[in-house]
Amino acid sequence: MTEMHLIRSKAAEAAEDRGSNISGNPTMGDLIAARFQRRDLLQGALAVAAIAATVSPIALARAARAQANATPSFHFKEVAAGSDDKHYVAQGYHADILIRWGDPVLPGAPPFDPTNQTAAAQARQFGYNNDFLGYFPLDGSRRGLLVVNHEYTNEELMFPGLGRQDARDPKKQTVPFPKMTKEIAEVEMMAHGGSVLEIARGADGKWSVVPESRYARRITAETDMELTGPAAGVERMRTGYDPSGRKVRGMLNNCAGGTTPWGTWLTCEENVNGYFFGKLEDHHPEARNYKRMGIPGNWQNWGAYHDRFDIWKEPNEANRFGWIVEIDPFDPASTPKKRTALGRFKHEGAAGIINRDGRYVVYSGDDERFDYVYKFVTEARVDPQNRDANRDILDRGTLSVARYDADGSGRWLPLVFGHGPLTEANGFRSQADVVIEARRAADLLGATKMDRPEDVDANPKTDKVYVMLTNNSRRTAEQVNPANPRANNRFGHIIEMIPDGRDHASEKFVWEILVKCGDPSIAEVGATFSSATTEDGWFGMPDNCAVDNMGRLWIATDGNQPSRTGRSDGLWAMETEGEARRTSKHFFRGPSGGEICGPCFTPDDETLFLAIQHPGEADDDDPNAKPASYEEPSTRWPDFNPAMPPRPSIVVVTKRGGGKIAS
Ligand code: FEO
Ligand code: CA
Ligand code: CA
Ligand code: CA
Repeated sequence: MTEMHLIRSKAAEAAEDRGSNISGNPTMGDLIAARFQRRDLLQGALAVAAIAATVSPIALARAARAQANATPSFHFKEVAAGSDDKHYVAQGYHADILIRWGDPVLPGAPPFDPTNQTAAAQARQFGYNNDFLGYFPLDGSRRGLLVVNHEYTNEELMFPGLGRQDARDPKKQTVPFPKMTKEIAEVEMMAHGGSVLEIARGADGKWSVVPESRYARRITAETDMELTGPAAGVERMRTGYDPSGRKVRGMLNNCAGGTTPWGTWLTCEENVNGYFFGKLEDHHPEARNYKRMGIPGNWQNWGAYHDRFDIWKEPNEANRFGWIVEIDPFDPASTPKKRTALGRFKHEGAAGIINRDGRYVVYSGDDERFDYVYKFVTEARVDPQNRDANRDILDRGTLSVARYDADGSGRWLPLVFGHGPLTEANGFRSQADVVIEARRAADLLGATKMDRPEDVDANPKTDKVYVMLTNNSRRTAEQVNPANPRANNRFGHIIEMIPDGRDHASEKFVWEILVKCGDPSIAEVGATFSSATTEDGWFGMPDNCAVDNMGRLWIATDGNQPSRTGRSDGLWAMETEGEARRTSKHFFRGPSGGEICGPCFTPDDETLFLAIQHPGEADDDDPNAKPASYEEPSTRWPDFNPAMPPRPSIVVVTKRGGGKIAS
């Protein structure tokens, strides 16, 4: 990709492309020698042997039992890989639209009129670019709350006659925003954030949004939130609007997330740099910190109208973004809380698991080229009897970052003020500084630089943890390491980690690469899907993932396009156990330009929710593709109405005649 192309490709990807990790952590060096002493594809049997060296006999017996209770395989007829303007699901399934950008969420929402959109209307309507989905049962798998992240906006597809506004000359770094207005910026601000929907399954088996539900909520870039944990209240978090350093308006670029066993929604701020405006200079008080986060990104010009997004007018505001936010979806009046103990970086997701000792563990990838994988372990145990006792459990605990060693073992390195290099000598005066600059702290600890860590999910049936590494075409041959073994990693890979003794709080783990992605029929690609994987079954660019209630792994992708992989993004079912391991099957295919997000199952595994993000974008690797616009999108999915732009929407998948998905 050329530099110009990078800048013009979609905003999220562009930010991730730049990479701001200039630390000296080993990317090859001494690791490379060791790499050739082991196979970077540790086979299943070897993985068990590796565990044997590190865990108790009891844990081994439990692991053996889990292997014996084989995870069921997937059963369905694959969708054909390919790309056009429509979506497709495996034969024998329905894939219906639940809700679209602009549909009503709150009472009084006006009908959607894209030619005359206002901030007031958007604040009551379903937001743009739906990403993470979480389901909270109200009545088992028949009625529940669906929570939705609205990650970002594509102004060129949303507003007539606007086109891309952040296109710029990469040399001059000029940011023209030629047609932006305050009104458009404010529609965008209201299209961000999240939605809480009450949904119910009718007698006909079809799901719908319950109108005027008492749970319905829109969260936007202006919703009042609280900052909690070690960074709350410190000077670096204070602004003109909030001299206390404990109150903040809005959440931004909420990508993936998680749901906790005590019934809250974790939603993750990812590419927050893009919302900050101006030009960073060395005398800015947060220069070192902001440089590491790529702030300001200048993708949006909200700072032209709202001082808080201008890094000179409000120099600390950007420290108040980049966190994991916890929201109680059952109480629409509750104040969302930014839990600073979990660190500030470009959080992709926040998948949690209750550890065997009752503590809660949250895994989170930092999605940028050469950034890291983190986990957080609470100090207290989850109280399954008393919901209130878990209310602030995420404010105290230990944040750690992963180092993947060449022998297939690994270490979680704690980010604790005063330990190792995290001292005043390196500019850390308290745990607040450590969490605000989690990336720089992790640099100093020697974390392993990864190929864009996206979603991480822990499988409660096996305690295996899956890390999606989406791609990194910037990694050079000198920068490969055993956990990121391909230079110019265009198609990404997936790492499987097994915590020592199946204890997610342990500092030790073993790991292996589950699969290197891409077309297995092209030898140079080096993909490692099983030979049972069909032409339709392979994929590139893993992004979101989910483990269903049977313990099976599902993978959603971002970045498959005709010019890159000859296929649209979709959802694939990935076998992880036994002889079928590394066999992938194509279950759902999205419309052109649309990334697949939020795979989410009801507790009975009979319903699968998918979020289709940014349908209608152009194939940005195809030099002949026209830039996509409101007037000329690559699809008008899902309405196919010439008067309607494409609309990010949620799809509900159920089996015809009923039953569990893919069984
Ligand atoms: Fe928002 Fe890393 O995907
Ligand atoms: Ca993602
Ligand atoms: Ca997930
Ligand atoms: Ca992505």
